[in-house]
Amino acid sequence: MSHDMSDDKLPQAHAAGEGHGEAAVADNPFADPGLPPHEPRRTDIDERAAKRAERQVSLLFIVSMLATVGFIASYVSIDADRIVYIFPLGHISALNFALGMTLGVALFCIGAGAVHWARTLMSDVELPAERHAIEADDETRADVIEQFKTGAAESGFGRRKMIRNTLIGSMALVPLSGVMLLRDLGPLPEKKLDVTGWNEATPNAPIRLVNMNTNEPMKAEDIAVGSLTFAKPGPSALRPAGLQESDEDFQEAIAKDALMLIRIQPNDIKDADSAALGFEGVLAYSKICTHVGCPISLYEQQTHHALCPCHQSTFDLSDGARVIFGPAGHPLPQLKIVTDASGYLVAPGGFEHPVGPSFWERSE
Ligand code: FES
Repeated sequence: MSHDMSDDKLPQAHAAGEGHGEAAVADNPFADPGLPPHEPRRTDIDERAAKRAERQVSLLFIVSMLATVGFIASYVSIDADRIVYIFPLGHISALNFALGMTLGVALFCIGAGAVHWARTLMSDVELPAERHAIEADDETRADVIEQFKTGAAESGFGRRKMIRNTLIGSMALVPLSGVMLLRDLGPLPEKKLDVTGWNEATPNAPIRLVNMNTNEPMKAEDIAVGSLTFAKPGPSALRPAGLQESDEDFQEAIAKDALMLIRIQPNDIKDADSAALGFEGVLAYSKICTHVGCPISLYEQQTHHALCPCHQSTFDLSDGARVIFGPAGHPLPQLKIVTDASGYLVAPGGFEHPVGPSFWERSE
């Protein structure tokens, strides 16, 4: 296989002494041809064309502002369940379509306006930049700042007030679209976890603890040492006030009331305050994990540890439900229990702390 190449296709060899200087550059077929002569644009020489371009840029920014307003209006006014037919997409969510279209138009118009502004009105004089050491000296930095100021002046940002103002307006409005979407994170936190069915109890009108499986009121002797039982407020509790079983909030309301009842030898209880809240070694803790609210149901009777199955937070129920492992930030709230005249376990009041992942409801 031959690789012959005729001499006339190769760069010409230079005679000795001719390889440097202007003659060599002139003969080099790969030499940088340099910048073509600058061609002024129509908007550079025709003030009416410049004004027209300015209005077009401003119009794009104004359309962006209107689209953002349309986004917000769509978000608050279009029913999330509404389906519409749009060719060629078929049947789609009207809300999603409106949000996508308006946000897309808002962002596109800002970009298109900026590009149009740069292509028609900003200075397009070519400035060759020589390669040099990366670190700039003071003189170069001052030169860059000067060039930046010159560029800013030539862009007309200060002079073309209509473009500047509409650009600022559209840029200021677009983030509102993101702020509106924050509403989809759900309702604002309220003091919901601070109120449970046990709040209805008072020392004069305590609420009986009822076995969650049998619906029977409980006595301390029903609970064996080392066992775990689940309890809820008895029928004397007014909670969930006014709620029917079919109501959406019913399950949430009764879930907050759920208790873990354990019995420990009184001598094994490490926390004196916790022992005082219990009755003869029977302790009542909220069943709702203080991490993100999973129900706790795993209890290790030898160590008195309760384990949350979701992220393995572990609570020492013999030590005030102190967190000994995992992401939970607070002990499980404990409910004070005593007995009534018939010997049944009752609660004379509510939890001292909000139940569950209630970081926004805690004052400490
Ligand atoms: S919900 Fe219990 S550890 Fe995460």
